[in-house]
Amino acid sequence: MSEPFYADARTYDRLFPGGERAVELYRAEADRHGGSVLELGSGTGRTLIPIAADGHPSVGLELSPDMLAEAQRKAAERGVDVDWVQGDMRDFDLGRRFDLVIIAANSLLHLHDADDLVSCFRSVSRHLAAGARLVFDVFNPSVHVLAGADGVRRTREELAFKDPGRGNVSVDVAETYDAAAQVTRGTWSFSAESQPDYLVVPLELRSVFPQELPLLLSLGGLRLVERFGDWSRGPLTAESAIQLCVCESA
Ligand SMILES: C[S@@+](CC[C@H](N)C(=O)[O-])C[C@H]1O[C@@H](n2cnc3c(N)ncnc32)[C@H](O)[C@@H]1O
Repeated sequence: MSEPFYADARTYDRLFPGGERAVELYRAEADRHGGSVLELGSGTGRTLIPIAADGHPSVGLELSPDMLAEAQRKAAERGVDVDWVQGDMRDFDLGRRFDLVIIAANSLLHLHDADDLVSCFRSVSRHLAAGARLVFDVFNPSVHVLAGADGVRRTREELAFKDPGRGNVSVDVAETYDAAAQVTRGTWSFSAESQPDYLVVPLELRSVFPQELPLLLSLGGLRLVERFGDWSRGPLTAESAIQLCVCESA
């Protein structure tokens, strides 16, 4: 249940600025594979708009109407042509194939059930052209971090941002980890000086552990070709923050 988290797309962009290294990597992947690109969970277009601006025919599939509207606004402002589609990555049929499918910035972790992940991978495999790749990034789960999710509300200084209407905004997060479901359940509270807790929203993200990932992919008709642990394509280790995965049709 994370839809309310994405109901204010401009707050999302202020909360998570940056991501340049990720965007550069996905742009390089689009150039390497050439041709058309589909992004699932395309959000406000942070990754897909630069790819489309590089000349790749691009489609963004996104569940949240608010994120989609903000992506549309940003693309129009920059004069970039992207086909934005409202849809659910768990099961979709766009009636065409792509040279590259991407799922950036943990969007995949919004699918909590193994069945949903497999169904998403099956949908992806129906949309891959010959020789095409699926590239995505998800957290590499840390048992230390998961064990520290004690439900206590804490201020996350690094997430503070400035809102043009409200001024300085501080962000508190309280998280618990449901080990049976492999889901971290968070409550994110946003406060301005004159408006404490003006926005309180849930964010729930699954952990996909390194050894289950190839199995889920193979059930969805995909094969893991390469997996990296950072944006420089270094190897995946126990300390890696991310799993950056490159897959092909099985
Ligand atoms: C962490 S954001 C990442 C957005 C974007 N990829 C980026 O790099 O900034 C996750 C996005 O996935 C979308 N999302 C979540 N569940 C989805 C689903 N089942 N189908 C399509 N999009 C979904 C959310 O609405 C949100 O925009």
